[in-house]
Amino acid sequence: MTHIICDNGTYKTRVGYSGDTQPTSEILTRTGIKKDPMTSGYEFLFPIKGGIIIDHDRMETIWTHIFDELNIKPKDHSILLTEAPFTPKSNQCKTAQIMFEKFSYSGICFGIDAVFSYISNGRSTGTIVTSGAETTHVVPIYEGSAIKNAIKSLPIGGEHITRRINDIVCRGQQFISLDAARNIKENNCMVTLNYDRQMIESSEFSHFDKEYTLPDNNTIVVTREMMMLTEVMFDPSIMHHDSPGIHEMYNSCIEYCPEELRRRLTDVVLLSGGNMRFNNTCTRFQQELNRSSQSFHHCFSSPPSDESCWMGASLFSRLSYFDQCLTSFVEYEEYGDACFYRSRA
Ligand SMILES: Nc1ncnc2c1ncn2[C@@H]1O[C@H](COP(=O)(O)OP(=O)(O)OP(=O)(O)O)[C@@H](O)[C@H]1O
Ligand SMILES: [Mg+2]
Repeated sequence: MTHIICDNGTYKTRVGYSGDTQPTSEILTRTGIKKDPMTSGYEFLFPIKGGIIIDHDRMETIWTHIFDELNIKPKDHSILLTEAPFTPKSNQCKTAQIMFEKFSYSGICFGIDAVFSYISNGRSTGTIVTSGAETTHVVPIYEGSAIKNAIKSLPIGGEHITRRINDIVCRGQQFISLDAARNIKENNCMVTLNYDRQMIESSEFSHFDKEYTLPDNNTIVVTREMMMLTEVMFDPSIMHHDSPGIHEMYNSCIEYCPEELRRRLTDVVLLSGGNMRFNNTCTRFQQELNRSSQSFHHCFSSPPSDESCWMGASLFSRLSYFDQCLTSFVEYEEYGDACFYRSRA
């Protein structure tokens, strides 16, 4: 039986078949309602917030759409769904109810997105720093399982930078959509290796500003301030967040892990997620770690794709013990939500 793999991201939902190297289909995780019947303006609603499904009805609409598009017959498949660390069990139960009772999947399994992203690089022990749409997590992984009590979270992701760019442009009396602000961000922002020096230089020389033409041909002046908003990952205080930066989160995450595992956990550190795809992110992260610790850390970025979580889940579903991780419809009928509160193989 082929399994269906569904990566439920705050920004994108990706679906495809077990064993494939990439999802067959992906859509933005949002539903639109018409703001005004006289215009073509839409208001978007986002059923996932910070990695957690907050509106299952709208999420069901998105799943229906994407399963229909792939012509999936759920009765013939089990489904593996990704979820953010710390997703409440009650949330899992609600998702399972929809998958079994609305779609009729024959089995279900949940797994932490960051763990899948890590195993997509072919390793099962190490640490991942993953930053997506609205959250960033540092997750230590030992032999394929997250060391849950050491996971560190930061409520900041790529969409915070998108919204800040949107605010800055609108302050200049030019009105753009969030999609346009995201486009500006993805094509112009970068991580700097020396933020303070770059900020001083850019305040002295306005030639750091550059003109950028959006797909609709509108021209925007992209300032150095906008380009360097990515610094929020290393210093959240620039967006008024009282949290440590990702390098400090990583250090405290490792300190929480058992001493005898630390060497293996720090051997290969992987950076993944859409918000880690700016130029220089990996180099800067490594620079900060080497500055703050005696030992050298090997950091890698996942391949330039935001699909590593889906790919890892697809790999996982091919492992011989995957079937033992599934909850079947028959078990669900007999035990209900209790299936999701017991520990599995
Ligand atoms: N090339 C890129 N450069 C910079 N940012 C990017 C790039 N590609 C995607 N992003 C940003 O990454 C964010 C989405 O990341 P990602 O696709 O990992 O999130 P997700 O999987 O949908 O959500 P979650 O955080 O719940 O896992 C968006 O803010 C998007 O603008
Ligand atoms: Mg994701």
